[in-house]
Amino acid sequence: MNAEPKGASRRRALVTGASSGIGEATARRLAQAGYRVALLARREAELERVRASLADPEAHLCVPCDLRDAAAVASALRSVRERLGALDLVVQNAAHGYLARVEEYDPKLLRSLVDTNVTAVLDIARESLPLLRAGEDPTMVLVSSIVARRGIPGQVAYAASKAALNSIGEGLRIEWASDGIAVCLLDVGLTRTAFFAAQPNPGRLPSPDVSAADRPERVADEILALDRHPEPERWLSWKWRALSLVGLLSPRLSDRYLVRRMGGGWRTPER
Ligand SMILES: NC(=O)c1ccc[n+]([C@@H]2O[C@H](COP(=O)([O-])OP(=O)(O)OC[C@H]3O[C@@H](n4cnc5c(N)ncnc54)[C@H](OP(=O)(O)O)[C@@H]3O)[C@@H](O)[C@H]2O)c1
Repeated sequence: MNAEPKGASRRRALVTGASSGIGEATARRLAQAGYRVALLARREAELERVRASLADPEAHLCVPCDLRDAAAVASALRSVRERLGALDLVVQNAAHGYLARVEEYDPKLLRSLVDTNVTAVLDIARESLPLLRAGEDPTMVLVSSIVARRGIPGQVAYAASKAALNSIGEGLRIEWASDGIAVCLLDVGLTRTAFFAAQPNPGRLPSPDVSAADRPERVADEILALDRHPEPERWLSWKWRALSLVGLLSPRLSDRYLVRRMGGGWRTPER
């Protein structure tokens, strides 16, 4: 085991979705803390932009990859192994949303969401496991959402994908305990990124107002903190944590509160 405090030595990290938003901020934060970072996403030019802006760009690598392609994921992890040898931290952050009523869903976009937000997480987990086993104090952080434990209208598939992610985290943290790999869930609240602009929104449902939302740098700080001191699950909004608990005890009460809080013309169920 590494005797130095985590972050003091040159840890090796893979960050998915590193071309923008929370993933970009995480790559920056980790690089600042001395990590060598493998930046993965589809847009190579954006990955190169981020890498070039990090201190010591040559220490880091870009891994252009469409996570919906399992063979591309395996090949990406081979590149990471060639350059970094092993991984001490994997941040599974890439995902996309889908703001629409269920009757508006395009089957292709729906499959893209499940492939990106769920299946790819399992592909990355499987392909990165040998590298984590070879790492020091290995940790995997799964970037989830406050909607993982409370379904919401207009984002039914996205919330379901995050519920699946939390289930993956709960199972993996026991499956990987014998390898000494910590698995942490981070339930992120509303954050100022391109996420809402990027998601399909065929019926022009109102997007949340992100003017007062968290900055991605705050989430990046939490990811670094989790690598230093792993916890099974960390919430970035106590209100949503309370709402999810209320939802278990009294679904009707939780529905009422949610409808009032969301606005947007949704109605409380009467039956
Ligand atoms: N923003 C929020 O309010 C919020 C709240 C809760 C949770 N989250 C979670 O935070 C995480 C990061 O989201 P963000 O807010 O930073 O949004 P974002 O700026 O849109 O970032 C999404 C990232 O995922 C990558 N990505 C999407 N599809 C991909 C694919 N098929 N293959 C490889 N990479 C792919 C994108 O890169 P390319 O387009 O270059 O591939 C991008 O780097 C997500 O898991 C999201 O669910 C966000």
